[in-house]
Amino acid sequence: MKKIAVLGYGVVGSGVVELFYKNKAKIEKNTGSELDVKYILDLREFPGDPYADKVVNDINIILNDPEVGYVAECMGGVNPAFQFVSSCLKAGKSVSTSNKQLVAEKGDILLQIAKENDCNFFFEASVGGAIPIIRPLHTCLAGNDISAAAGILNGTTNFILEKMFCDKMGFDEALKLAQELGFAERDPSADVDGADACRKVCILASLIFGKHVYPESVYTKGIRDITLQDVELAQNFGGAVKLIGCTKKLDDGRILSTVMPMVVPNDSLISHVNGVFNAVMVWGDGFDKTMFYGRGAGKLPTASAVLGDIIDCVKAEHTVMSHEWVNTNSTDFVAGIDAFEAPRFYRTNSFDAAVFENAAKAANVTLEQTAENGCIISSCDNASSDAFVKALEEAGAEVLAQIPVMSD
Ligand code: HSE
Repeated sequence: MKKIAVLGYGVVGSGVVELFYKNKAKIEKNTGSELDVKYILDLREFPGDPYADKVVNDINIILNDPEVGYVAECMGGVNPAFQFVSSCLKAGKSVSTSNKQLVAEKGDILLQIAKENDCNFFFEASVGGAIPIIRPLHTCLAGNDISAAAGILNGTTNFILEKMFCDKMGFDEALKLAQELGFAERDPSADVDGADACRKVCILASLIFGKHVYPESVYTKGIRDITLQDVELAQNFGGAVKLIGCTKKLDDGRILSTVMPMVVPNDSLISHVNGVFNAVMVWGDGFDKTMFYGRGAGKLPTASAVLGDIIDCVKAEHTVMSHEWVNTNSTDFVAGIDAFEAPRFYRTNSFDAAVFENAAKAANVTLEQTAENGCIISSCDNASSDAFVKALEEAGAEVLAQIPVMSD
């Protein structure tokens, strides 16, 4: 019998144990192995929990038990998760993690340790919750040159923006509701300021382009400044404001990775992704584009991905199937935000179409849509956008918000 240890008995860890025992017979049939959860590592005690007898609070019990072949890391954070996961891999135990911060900051090191120790380090649950995205990029789509991936990678902000869009709630009211419903963290800054989506972009970028892209290399802007007026004007223009994480290869070969609110036109599938759902669009030379959609957060959706990885670890024993990317010790391959080009949405205090037209001519950009309180111009770089804003301001118009427009 092969044994599993679960590190962290919070929302995701308890989901892994619950889903494992619910579907144990199926999982054993699928893997062809008898399996059981032997340990749950947590500093807390869980009196009355059906699996309380499995709880231990010393990682060494797991590390020193040769029966444990597979570890599900669901603790979150970098410390002590990094030390625990490194030690498990060094002991030859394959690890599946839901911890996006760990993968975004230490993925290159952990993948190398796994390889050196003939075991696997998998992290399907770290991006998009239940959505299979990591493995398809690594396997099904691996015959392609993938040029970009972009989408909604944070469920909490998507829920907030939907409430603003559909129910005309202000940002603060929508955030409060997300907290009441248990979607947002008590400290919601990692969600609303974009750090959570940034980590997921790092993982996608590193996997697709083969070099570790660290959080510092991702331009990150959250949704705190988005107002109901922005959302309503975007709606009038036929779009929705979404927090979009994106990584793409530029014509010069560098990688540009961003997290920012964008206006997504209604003809993109992404604009219709609501609530805590996530969606990732991927572009490649053979398949053109494909979209992955599903529950991006939550106990059992995330547990589903962790368990899927454990099943793969069992099936792949003594075969290193881990994805791989390298640390180049350089950021030369990463582009800064100055390389960003996109159509742009501007919200102004009230102005007429002639003012927008004159400013567009002055900045040498093309006007696509206008309303009395804003406009959209076609794709341009930041310098042209700045010139457009300056021309508007010289005409007495105040730019109250500017948001890039996503095009796919
Ligand atoms: N806080 C995250 C979200 C959880 O809202 O998407 C899943 O990573």
